[in-house]
Amino acid sequence: MSNQIITPYEVKTDENGVDYNKLIQEFGTTPISSEIITKIQQITNQPVHPLLRRGTYFSHRSLDQLLTDIESNKPFYVYTGRGPSAESMHIGHLLQFEFTKYLQDAFNVQVVIQLTDDEKFYYKDLTLEQATKLAYENMKDIIACGFNPEKTFIFVDSNYMGYLYHNIVKINKCLTQNQIKNTMGLQDNDNLGKYSYPPIQIAPAFSTSFPHLFPQKENVRCLVPCGVDQDPFFRIARDVAHRLKYHKPAVIHSKFLPGLKGVNSKMSSSDPTTCILLTDTPAQIKNKINRKAFSGGKVDLDEHRKYGGDVTVDVAYHYLTFFLDDDQELESIKEKYTRGEMLTSELKKIAIDLITKKVLNYQERRKNLTDDIINQFIKI
Ligand code: TYM
Repeated sequence: MSNQIITPYEVKTDENGVDYNKLIQEFGTTPISSEIITKIQQITNQPVHPLLRRGTYFSHRSLDQLLTDIESNKPFYVYTGRGPSAESMHIGHLLQFEFTKYLQDAFNVQVVIQLTDDEKFYYKDLTLEQATKLAYENMKDIIACGFNPEKTFIFVDSNYMGYLYHNIVKINKCLTQNQIKNTMGLQDNDNLGKYSYPPIQIAPAFSTSFPHLFPQKENVRCLVPCGVDQDPFFRIARDVAHRLKYHKPAVIHSKFLPGLKGVNSKMSSSDPTTCILLTDTPAQIKNKINRKAFSGGKVDLDEHRKYGGDVTVDVAYHYLTFFLDDDQELESIKEKYTRGEMLTSELKKIAIDLITKKVLNYQERRKNLTDDIINQFIKI
């Protein structure tokens, strides 16, 4: 029996980690079927992203309907976001933005990205000025993922609010305090900002929040890729869409990249001991994975050779399932480790090399960002 709580602000699981099948039932979402994957492949005329193929993006809301609409040439845009709680994002955030970039390239589609300095001000021990500063730092993290400047708009809430406001007002009128309290797991004594925030994350799922991108005022469909913790916002968005005569946003949910401490632990960018940050040096990455990543290996060499390692709890192996694209290589690592032919140190070295390369490539791109490049993403 799993006993789990997943909200945008709390992830609690038993020692086996998140039970995603149970989550699908609890949230009332739909698993991503092989038919959907085939359809995406057909429409985009290219292999699907490994995170889709491997089931990391595991669940959706009305993605099937959106794909049917796309087949009949209906336009759509992609919307995702980041709550700037720390100077640097972690590699779990990176996967969301890499997947969003894949959607942009594969479907040749407009992307909008929200940076919620207001949300983090309400929830964290930060001044609004600090949260806004972090938002602009994280904006650079996001741009360095390689988005197309012609088709990407990034905004910070405290700056773009005027354009969102008319939709926020309409959403507010559709919702009761009770609905927000229950869906977001709030208490009566929580600050009012926490109650007022959800419409701000919902509004960008409606295309009229972006008159400069969609000037024809047509109601354009929206697809939201996100970690499954963000689903409560879009559950509400879909409820209100109907009342506002907007399209219900489609949503595609990913599993969580686990924290270093174990498959049931969460990465938090404000606690560097739980995760690999995009600012980490090769030595830090090596140190974190070697010293902190929970291992499914046995206590000593003899035992390991005899009984083999347990990939289901091994954090370094989990990282490979997210970041190693080659299916055959992954399978061969799994077999060798499970049979005890591969040692924990060898498995960890593969993960260290792969993640270090990824992070260094990324850091090189971020270093080369200029103000001119950044301005292309924020201009209205
Ligand atoms: P935030 O900043 O907590 O996370 C940004 C995105 O990363 C996902 N995520 C993860 N994915 C995989 N593994 C992890 N360990 C991991 N940790 C976080 C989150 O689910 C999210 O998709 N309120 C939001 C910001 C936001 C947003 C949005 C997110 C505003 N609008 C629209 C998604 C879609 C937040 O604080 O995200």
